[in-house]
Amino acid sequence: MRHFITLFDLTRDELLHLLTMAERLKRQRSRGKARRKLGGKVVALIFEKPSLRTRVSFESAVAQLGGASIFLTGGEVGLGTREAIPDCARTLSQFCDAVILRTFAHSTVETFAEHASVPVINGLTDAHHPCQALSDLFTMREHFGELRGRIVAFVGDGNNVARSLAAGCGMLGMHFVLAAPEGYGFEPEYADLLRQRFPEVRFEINGSPKEAVRHADVVYTDVWTSMGQEAEKDARCQAFRGFQVNEQLLEQAPAHAVVMHCLPAHRGEEITSEVLDGQRSIAFQQAGNRLHAQKALLEWLMSQQGRRSRR
Ligand code: CP
Ligand code: NVA
Repeated sequence: MRHFITLFDLTRDELLHLLTMAERLKRQRSRGKARRKLGGKVVALIFEKPSLRTRVSFESAVAQLGGASIFLTGGEVGLGTREAIPDCARTLSQFCDAVILRTFAHSTVETFAEHASVPVINGLTDAHHPCQALSDLFTMREHFGELRGRIVAFVGDGNNVARSLAAGCGMLGMHFVLAAPEGYGFEPEYADLLRQRFPEVRFEINGSPKEAVRHADVVYTDVWTSMGQEAEKDARCQAFRGFQVNEQLLEQAPAHAVVMHCLPAHRGEEITSEVLDGQRSIAFQQAGNRLHAQKALLEWLMSQQGRRSRR
């Protein structure tokens, strides 16, 4: 059974295949061509955290592909509280053809996938956001074409979005520079893992946003306080002062560099409205692309059912 828990669940070729599929699906949709590859299929979504983009883009994707979706909050399912996670997974696998989970603990999704007999997709955990990274690589490819050798500067927290994006960059031969305050970069184990897996790629972690963006093709940021970290908000705002993506910082980046943000944004914290709404921002194209990338993922993953994993 193939799942999509982190980007490492894909080979490089599979990732490239999904990006090409997403491009085709986007083109087909703009021509009004219907595609019913999920006809008769049911996809369940269980979300322990709020969501606009992930939930709606997945539910729309399923509907546009001819399937049906069922949305459940973590509270109503009681994953691991009302019922053991493996029991939920075994039961739900008999009603549904795929399950998308958004959880706090990454281990919840891993445990669920271990016991599910249908594909499981990670719709964000505290540790990873692979659907975002998949879609972001699609947006970057749409903008730049070939991505090998391009440089992404991530200014802000070494969080779920940053971790998944760094993995995706490594897989496609892109360099990744993280500018984070001390204590908010990647855990050393994750940085080592990236360097071991992708020795030809540069992963830099430094404390200087100006240095980080100097040669960047993409300046990326995300919130300083992720869902579940609300109690740390004041301390984080303090620690991240000086890490805002604003016009002054963008002046240090090459003229062709674009700005990306996974959204939702905390305007005035990690990014100014001037930049987010400005000429160099592709954040809303980026948000829209979630639909196409996830359609490709759903179609492909569900067609893999019954095939043996090659890794
Ligand atoms: N970027 C993203 O995942 O947005 P949501 O939290 O609204 O789903
Ligand atoms: N890092 C953010 C991403 C939201 C899409 C969070 O986890 O809240």
